[in-house]
Amino acid sequence: PRVLVLNGPNLGRLGVREPEIYGHLSMSDLKVSAATWGAELGLDVEVRQTDGESEIVGWLHEAVDAEAHVVLNPAAFTHYSYALRDAAAQVTTAGLLLVEVHLSNPAARESFRHYSVVAGIATGTVAGFGFDSYRLALSAIAARLAA
Ligand code: DQA
Repeated sequence: PRVLVLNGPNLGRLGVREPEIYGHLSMSDLKVSAATWGAELGLDVEVRQTDGESEIVGWLHEAVDAEAHVVLNPAAFTHYSYALRDAAAQVTTAGLLLVEVHLSNPAARESFRHYSVVAGIATGTVAGFGFDSYRLALSAIAARLAA
């Protein structure tokens, strides 16, 4: 099974950006780790990052057309992008899995981060475990597909 791991704005700055919140590892490190986890779990994993709303919306359309499951860290789009939400909804209504992930725990941070426009259409959410949030999301997808 194919899984697109899609990352929104500013996540290309991982390792440099607020390391006390997001850690010292980079998006390239995530790509390496995700490939290893995918191989262990029997998933064909591809990691992408963009700062653009239209690009991530397009990738969600691509996931639907390619019948790929999605691990989505929408970053700040989480909190206000109805366009992203509507695109993500097409993934789950197509019967594909979509796991919302966050490195940090947005519920423990500023109040504008407490609301996710994506959560209500996601299969489930993993937040607060750093890079492990992605590993847990991939393992949840593998488990659900095996069930
Ligand atoms: C984030 C949390 C968001 O609130 C923030 O805008 C991000 C990263 C996370 O992974 O913890 O850019 O999605």
